[in-house]
Amino acid sequence: MKVNGKNYRTVWMKGSEVHLIEQNLLPFEFKIFRATSHSETCHAIKSMIVRGAGAIGAAAAFAMAQAAMEAEKNNYLNYLSYAKTEIENTRPTAQNLFYSVERVYKAALISKENAYEEAQKVADEDAAASRKIGEYGNEIIKDGCNILTHCNAGWLAFVDFGTALSPIYAAHTSGKKIFVYVDETRPRSQGARLTAWELKNEGVPHSIVPDNAGAFLMSQGKIDMIIVGADRIARNGDTANKIGTFEKAIIAKELGIPFYVAAPTSSIDLNCKKGSEIPIEHRSENEVLYQTGIDKKGKIHEVLVCSPGSGAINPAFDVTPAKFITGIITEKGIINATEKGIERIT
Ligand code: MRU
Repeated sequence: MKVNGKNYRTVWMKGSEVHLIEQNLLPFEFKIFRATSHSETCHAIKSMIVRGAGAIGAAAAFAMAQAAMEAEKNNYLNYLSYAKTEIENTRPTAQNLFYSVERVYKAALISKENAYEEAQKVADEDAAASRKIGEYGNEIIKDGCNILTHCNAGWLAFVDFGTALSPIYAAHTSGKKIFVYVDETRPRSQGARLTAWELKNEGVPHSIVPDNAGAFLMSQGKIDMIIVGADRIARNGDTANKIGTFEKAIIAKELGIPFYVAAPTSSIDLNCKKGSEIPIEHRSENEVLYQTGIDKKGKIHEVLVCSPGSGAINPAFDVTPAKFITGIITEKGIINATEKGIERIT
Protein backbone atom coordinates (compact mmCIF):
# COMPACT_ATOMS: atom_id res chain seq x y z
CA MET A 1 0.00 0.00 0.00
CA LYS A 2 1.09 3.59 -0.46
CA VAL A 3 2.46 5.97 2.18
CA ASN A 4 3.09 9.51 0.92
CA GLY A 5 2.83 8.22 -2.64
CA LYS A 6 5.43 5.45 -2.18
CA ASN A 7 4.61 1.72 -2.15
CA TYR A 8 5.46 -0.12 1.07
CA ARG A 9 5.10 -3.54 2.55
CA THR A 10 4.85 -3.79 6.35
CA VAL A 11 7.96 -5.98 6.56
CA TRP A 12 10.61 -6.99 4.01
CA MET A 13 14.13 -8.41 3.93
CA LYS A 14 17.07 -6.75 2.17
CA GLY A 15 20.31 -8.71 2.27
CA SER A 16 20.58 -9.90 5.86
CA GLU A 17 18.51 -7.01 7.28
CA VAL A 18 14.82 -7.14 8.11
CA HIS A 19 13.04 -3.82 7.55
CA LEU A 20 9.83 -3.09 9.42
CA ILE A 21 7.42 -0.18 9.63
CA GLU A 22 7.72 0.99 13.28
CA GLN A 23 4.08 0.57 14.33
CA ASN A 24 4.55 1.83 17.88
CA LEU A 25 5.18 5.31 16.44
CA LEU A 26 2.19 5.36 14.10
CA PRO A 27 0.15 7.42 13.37
CA PHE A 28 2.39 10.17 14.71
CA GLU A 29 5.64 9.31 12.95
CA PHE A 30 6.45 7.09 9.96
CA LYS A 31 9.77 5.36 10.45
CA ILE A 32 11.47 2.16 9.28
CA PHE A 33 13.15 -0.07 11.90
CA ARG A 34 16.10 -2.17 10.67
CA ALA A 35 16.82 -5.43 12.43
CA THR A 36 20.33 -6.64 11.67
CA SER A 37 20.13 -10.02 13.43
CA HIS A 38 17.46 -12.62 14.22
CA SER A 39 17.54 -11.46 17.88
CA GLU A 40 16.77 -7.90 16.84
CA THR A 41 13.86 -9.16 14.73
CA CYS A 42 12.64 -11.10 17.79
CA HIS A 43 12.83 -7.85 19.76
CA ALA A 44 10.74 -6.13 17.04
CA ILE A 45 8.03 -8.81 17.34
CA LYS A 46 8.04 -8.79 21.16
CA SER A 47 7.93 -5.02 21.49
CA MET A 48 5.21 -4.77 18.80
CA ILE A 49 7.26 -2.71 16.37
CA VAL A 50 5.63 -5.26 14.09
CA ARG A 51 2.24 -6.76 15.05
CA GLY A 52 -0.77 -8.43 13.51
CA ALA A 53 -0.89 -12.10 12.51
CA GLY A 54 0.53 -12.05 8.98
CA ALA A 55 3.14 -9.36 9.63
CA ILE A 56 4.36 -11.26 12.69
CA GLY A 57 4.45 -14.41 10.55
CA ALA A 58 6.57 -12.78 7.84
CA ALA A 59 8.88 -11.16 10.40
CA ALA A 60 9.33 -14.55 12.09
CA ALA A 61 10.07 -16.18 8.71
CA PHE A 62 12.73 -13.54 8.02
CA ALA A 63 14.16 -13.97 11.55
CA MET A 64 14.56 -17.69 10.86
CA ALA A 65 16.32 -16.90 7.57
CA GLN A 66 18.61 -14.45 9.40
CA ALA A 67 19.47 -17.17 11.91
CA ALA A 68 20.43 -19.50 9.03
CA MET A 69 22.72 -16.78 7.65
CA GLU A 70 24.30 -16.15 11.07
CA ALA A 71 24.92 -19.82 11.92
CA GLU A 72 28.51 -21.13 11.71
CA LYS A 73 29.01 -24.34 9.71
CA ASN A 74 30.24 -26.34 12.71
CA ASN A 75 27.26 -25.38 14.90
CA TYR A 76 24.59 -24.94 12.20
CA LEU A 77 21.85 -27.26 13.49
CA ASN A 78 22.21 -26.27 17.14
CA TYR A 79 22.06 -22.59 16.27
CA LEU A 80 18.99 -23.08 14.08
CA SER A 81 17.11 -24.95 16.75
CA TYR A 82 18.05 -22.42 19.45
CA ALA A 83 16.89 -19.55 17.19
CA LYS A 84 13.64 -21.37 16.32
CA THR A 85 12.73 -21.58 20.02
CA GLU A 86 13.71 -17.96 20.58
CA ILE A 87 11.47 -16.79 17.71
CA GLU A 88 8.56 -19.00 18.78
CA ASN A 89 8.73 -17.55 22.28
CA THR A 90 8.19 -13.96 21.14
CA ARG A 91 4.36 -14.05 21.02
CA PRO A 92 2.06 -17.00 21.73
CA THR A 93 -1.29 -16.50 19.98
CA ALA A 94 -0.80 -15.72 16.27
CA GLN A 95 -0.73 -19.02 14.37
CA ASN A 96 1.15 -17.46 11.43
CA LEU A 97 4.25 -17.11 13.57
CA PHE A 98 4.47 -20.88 14.16
CA TYR A 99 3.41 -21.73 10.60
CA SER A 100 6.11 -19.49 9.09
CA VAL A 101 8.95 -20.47 11.43
CA GLU A 102 8.31 -24.16 10.77
CA ARG A 103 8.41 -23.66 7.00
CA VAL A 104 11.65 -21.67 7.02
CA TYR A 105 13.29 -23.94 9.61
CA LYS A 106 12.66 -26.97 7.36
CA ALA A 107 14.10 -25.06 4.38
CA ALA A 108 17.13 -24.04 6.47
CA LEU A 109 17.86 -27.72 7.12
CA ILE A 110 18.66 -27.93 3.40
CA SER A 111 20.65 -24.67 3.09
CA LYS A 112 20.71 -21.03 4.16
CA GLU A 113 19.85 -20.03 0.57
CA ASN A 114 16.73 -22.22 0.76
CA ALA A 115 15.79 -20.55 4.04
CA TYR A 116 16.05 -17.09 2.51
CA GLU A 117 13.96 -18.09 -0.51
CA GLU A 118 11.31 -19.77 1.65
CA ALA A 119 11.01 -16.69 3.88
CA GLN A 120 10.46 -14.49 0.81
CA LYS A 121 7.84 -16.99 -0.37
CA VAL A 122 6.03 -16.84 2.99
CA ALA A 123 5.85 -13.04 2.71
CA ASP A 124 4.74 -13.07 -0.94
CA GLU A 125 2.07 -15.69 -0.27
CA ASP A 126 0.75 -13.64 2.65
CA ALA A 127 0.38 -10.57 0.41
CA ALA A 128 -1.27 -12.64 -2.37
CA ALA A 129 -3.71 -14.28 0.08
CA SER A 130 -4.68 -10.89 1.52
CA ARG A 131 -5.36 -9.54 -1.95
CA LYS A 132 -7.58 -12.52 -2.78
CA ILE A 133 -9.45 -12.12 0.55
CA GLY A 134 -10.27 -8.60 -0.66
CA GLU A 135 -11.81 -9.96 -3.85
CA TYR A 136 -13.95 -12.59 -2.09
CA GLY A 137 -14.93 -10.20 0.68
CA ASN A 138 -15.95 -7.49 -1.78
CA GLU A 139 -18.59 -9.86 -3.19
CA ILE A 140 -20.55 -9.75 0.07
CA ILE A 141 -20.27 -5.98 0.63
CA LYS A 142 -23.32 -4.16 -0.71
CA ASP A 143 -23.22 -0.60 -2.03
CA GLY A 144 -24.07 1.75 0.84
CA CYS A 145 -22.90 -0.73 3.47
CA ASN A 146 -21.88 0.39 6.98
CA ILE A 147 -19.17 -1.89 8.37
CA LEU A 148 -17.81 -2.22 11.90
CA THR A 149 -14.27 -3.49 12.42
CA HIS A 150 -12.25 -4.20 15.54
CA CYS A 151 -8.51 -3.74 16.10
CA ASN A 152 -6.30 -3.54 13.01
CA ALA A 153 -6.46 -6.28 10.44
CA GLY A 154 -5.36 -3.94 7.68
CA TRP A 155 -2.18 -4.01 5.60
CA LEU A 156 -0.11 -3.10 8.67
CA ALA A 157 -1.16 -6.39 10.28
CA PHE A 158 -0.08 -8.39 7.19
CA VAL A 159 2.58 -8.00 4.54
CA ASP A 160 0.22 -6.01 2.31
CA PHE A 161 -3.55 -5.34 1.76
CA GLY A 162 -4.66 -6.88 5.09
CA THR A 163 -7.60 -9.16 5.81
CA ALA A 164 -10.61 -7.42 7.41
CA LEU A 165 -9.70 -4.20 5.58
CA SER A 166 -8.84 -5.81 2.25
CA PRO A 167 -12.52 -6.30 1.22
CA ILE A 168 -13.16 -2.74 2.39
CA TYR A 169 -10.37 -1.41 0.13
CA ALA A 170 -11.66 -3.52 -2.76
CA ALA A 171 -15.23 -2.26 -2.25
CA HIS A 172 -14.06 1.35 -2.04
CA THR A 173 -11.87 1.03 -5.15
CA SER A 174 -14.73 -0.55 -7.08
CA GLY A 175 -16.81 2.56 -6.41
CA LYS A 176 -19.16 1.27 -3.69
CA LYS A 177 -20.16 3.85 -1.11
CA ILE A 178 -19.22 2.37 2.22
CA PHE A 179 -18.64 3.70 5.73
CA VAL A 180 -16.43 2.10 8.36
CA TYR A 181 -16.97 2.28 12.12
CA VAL A 182 -13.55 1.75 13.71
CA ASP A 183 -13.49 0.35 17.26
CA GLU A 184 -10.75 2.23 19.06
CA THR A 185 -9.56 -1.12 20.55
CA ARG A 186 -8.11 -0.39 23.96
CA PRO A 187 -5.69 -0.79 25.51
CA ARG A 188 -3.20 -0.34 22.66
CA SER A 189 -5.72 1.41 20.39
CA GLN A 190 -4.79 -0.39 17.18
CA GLY A 191 -8.16 0.71 15.76
CA ALA A 192 -7.93 4.39 16.65
CA ARG A 193 -4.27 4.61 15.72
CA LEU A 194 -3.59 2.13 12.90
CA THR A 195 -6.92 1.28 11.21
CA ALA A 196 -7.96 4.94 11.19
CA TRP A 197 -4.54 5.92 9.77
CA GLU A 198 -4.83 3.32 7.01
CA LEU A 199 -8.40 4.29 6.08
CA LYS A 200 -7.54 7.97 6.03
CA ASN A 201 -4.57 7.32 3.72
CA GLU A 202 -6.85 5.40 1.35
CA GLY A 203 -9.66 7.98 1.50
CA VAL A 204 -12.21 5.51 2.95
CA PRO A 205 -14.95 7.35 4.93
CA HIS A 206 -14.81 6.28 8.59
CA SER A 207 -15.25 7.29 12.22
CA ILE A 208 -13.49 6.01 15.32
CA VAL A 209 -15.98 4.76 17.93
CA PRO A 210 -15.42 3.92 21.60
CA ASP A 211 -15.14 0.18 22.21
CA ASN A 212 -18.27 0.19 24.32
CA ALA A 213 -20.45 1.87 21.64
CA GLY A 214 -20.94 -1.31 19.59
CA ALA A 215 -24.22 -2.52 21.09
CA PHE A 216 -25.78 0.94 20.86
CA LEU A 217 -24.74 1.47 17.25
CA MET A 218 -25.94 -1.99 16.25
CA SER A 219 -29.29 -1.51 18.02
CA GLN A 220 -29.76 1.79 16.17
CA GLY A 221 -29.42 0.07 12.80
CA LYS A 222 -26.15 1.84 12.05
CA ILE A 223 -24.15 -1.33 11.33
CA ASP A 224 -24.94 -3.63 8.38
CA MET A 225 -22.08 -6.06 8.88
CA ILE A 226 -18.96 -6.69 10.94
CA ILE A 227 -15.63 -7.83 9.54
CA VAL A 228 -12.73 -8.64 11.88
CA GLY A 229 -9.38 -10.41 11.51
CA ALA A 230 -8.09 -13.50 13.29
CA ASP A 231 -4.93 -14.45 15.14
CA ARG A 232 -5.68 -18.16 15.20
CA ILE A 233 -8.63 -20.25 14.04
CA ALA A 234 -9.20 -23.67 15.60
CA ARG A 235 -10.27 -26.66 13.50
CA ASN A 236 -13.92 -26.17 14.55
CA GLY A 237 -13.91 -22.49 13.51
CA ASP A 238 -13.57 -20.96 16.99
CA THR A 239 -11.51 -17.81 16.40
CA ALA A 240 -9.04 -15.92 18.57
CA ASN A 241 -8.88 -12.22 17.81
CA LYS A 242 -8.14 -9.01 19.71
CA ILE A 243 -9.84 -8.72 23.08
CA GLY A 244 -13.37 -7.35 22.71
CA THR A 245 -14.18 -9.25 19.50
CA PHE A 246 -16.28 -11.89 21.28
CA GLU A 247 -18.72 -9.41 22.80
CA LYS A 248 -19.30 -7.77 19.39
CA ALA A 249 -20.07 -11.18 17.90
CA ILE A 250 -22.64 -11.99 20.61
CA ILE A 251 -24.44 -8.68 20.07
CA ALA A 252 -24.33 -9.11 16.28
CA LYS A 253 -25.92 -12.56 16.54
CA GLU A 254 -28.61 -11.31 18.91
CA LEU A 255 -29.47 -8.47 16.51
CA GLY A 256 -29.17 -10.50 13.30
CA ILE A 257 -26.13 -8.66 11.94
CA PRO A 258 -23.70 -10.73 9.81
CA PHE A 259 -20.35 -11.23 11.58
CA TYR A 260 -17.45 -12.22 9.31
CA VAL A 261 -13.88 -13.20 10.11
CA ALA A 262 -11.30 -12.52 7.36
CA ALA A 263 -8.11 -14.57 7.52
CA PRO A 264 -5.71 -16.52 5.33
CA THR A 265 -5.84 -20.31 5.64
CA SER A 266 -2.33 -20.05 7.20
CA SER A 267 -4.12 -18.75 10.35
CA ILE A 268 -6.07 -22.02 10.71
CA ASP A 269 -4.44 -24.35 13.22
CA LEU A 270 -5.59 -27.86 12.39
CA ASN A 271 -3.79 -29.20 15.48
CA CYS A 272 -6.08 -27.11 17.64
CA LYS A 273 -9.42 -28.86 17.98
CA LYS A 274 -11.34 -26.04 19.64
CA GLY A 275 -10.97 -22.47 20.84
CA SER A 276 -10.20 -23.34 24.44
CA GLU A 277 -6.89 -24.85 23.23
CA ILE A 278 -5.67 -21.55 21.77
CA PRO A 279 -2.99 -19.95 24.00
CA ILE A 280 -4.03 -16.46 25.04
CA GLU A 281 -1.34 -13.84 25.59
CA HIS A 282 -1.50 -11.74 28.74
CA ARG A 283 0.38 -8.47 28.37
CA SER A 284 1.79 -5.88 30.75
CA GLU A 285 -0.64 -3.90 32.93
CA ASN A 286 1.19 -0.76 31.80
CA GLU A 287 -0.61 -0.95 28.44
CA VAL A 288 -3.88 -0.35 30.31
CA LEU A 289 -2.55 2.15 32.83
CA TYR A 290 -0.64 4.38 30.39
CA GLN A 291 -1.50 5.83 27.00
CA THR A 292 0.78 7.37 24.40
CA GLY A 293 -0.19 10.46 22.45
CA ILE A 294 1.10 13.60 20.85
CA ASP A 295 1.07 17.15 22.28
CA LYS A 296 0.31 20.36 20.40
CA LYS A 297 3.99 20.75 19.55
CA GLY A 298 4.10 17.29 17.95
CA LYS A 299 6.04 15.62 20.76
CA ILE A 300 5.11 12.04 21.71
CA HIS A 301 4.41 11.42 25.43
CA GLU A 302 3.33 8.51 27.56
CA VAL A 303 0.93 9.47 30.36
CA LEU A 304 -0.77 7.67 33.24
CA VAL A 305 -4.55 7.60 32.56
CA CYS A 306 -5.69 5.55 35.57
CA SER A 307 -5.85 6.03 39.30
CA PRO A 308 -2.23 6.03 40.57
CA GLY A 309 -1.43 2.84 42.45
CA SER A 310 -4.21 0.69 40.96
CA GLY A 311 -3.23 -2.43 39.07
CA ALA A 312 -4.70 -3.70 35.80
CA ILE A 313 -5.38 -6.98 34.00
CA ASN A 314 -4.57 -7.15 30.30
CA PRO A 315 -5.59 -10.25 28.32
CA ALA A 316 -4.73 -9.48 24.68
CA PHE A 317 -7.17 -11.83 22.91
CA ASP A 318 -10.50 -13.57 23.32
CA VAL A 319 -12.06 -16.47 21.46
CA THR A 320 -15.31 -16.17 19.52
CA PRO A 321 -17.07 -19.54 19.25
CA ALA A 322 -17.81 -20.64 15.66
CA LYS A 323 -21.59 -20.45 16.20
CA PHE A 324 -21.36 -16.64 16.27
CA ILE A 325 -19.42 -16.43 12.98
CA THR A 326 -21.39 -16.07 9.74
CA GLY A 327 -18.42 -17.03 7.57
CA ILE A 328 -14.64 -16.94 7.30
CA ILE A 329 -13.36 -15.01 4.28
CA THR A 330 -10.19 -16.77 3.11
CA GLU A 331 -8.04 -16.61 -0.04
CA LYS A 332 -9.82 -19.80 -1.17
CA GLY A 333 -13.36 -18.51 -0.76
CA ILE A 334 -15.76 -17.93 2.10
CA ILE A 335 -15.92 -20.93 4.37
CA ASN A 336 -17.78 -22.21 7.38
CA ALA A 337 -15.85 -24.22 9.93
CA THR A 338 -17.70 -26.55 12.27
CA GLU A 339 -16.90 -29.65 14.30
CA LYS A 340 -17.69 -31.68 11.18
CA GLY A 341 -14.99 -29.87 9.22
CA ILE A 342 -14.55 -26.95 6.89
CA GLU A 343 -17.15 -26.23 4.25
CA ARG A 344 -17.03 -23.69 1.43
CA ILE A 345 -20.11 -21.46 1.43
CA THR A 346 -19.38 -19.19 -1.58
O1 MRU B 1 -1.67 -7.73 19.46
P1 MRU B 1 -1.71 -7.50 18.00
O2 MRU B 1 -1.87 -6.09 17.58
O3 MRU B 1 -0.63 -8.26 17.25
O4 MRU B 1 -3.08 -8.22 17.68
C1 MRU B 1 -3.35 -8.87 16.56
C2 MRU B 1 -4.32 -8.09 15.83
O5 MRU B 1 -3.94 -7.15 15.19
C3 MRU B 1 -5.73 -8.41 15.87
O6 MRU B 1 -6.17 -9.31 16.76
C4 MRU B 1 -6.26 -8.50 14.48
O7 MRU B 1 -7.59 -8.22 14.52
C5 MRU B 1 -6.04 -9.85 13.87
S1 MRU B 1 -4.45 -10.09 13.33
C6 MRU B 1 -4.54 -9.47 11.81
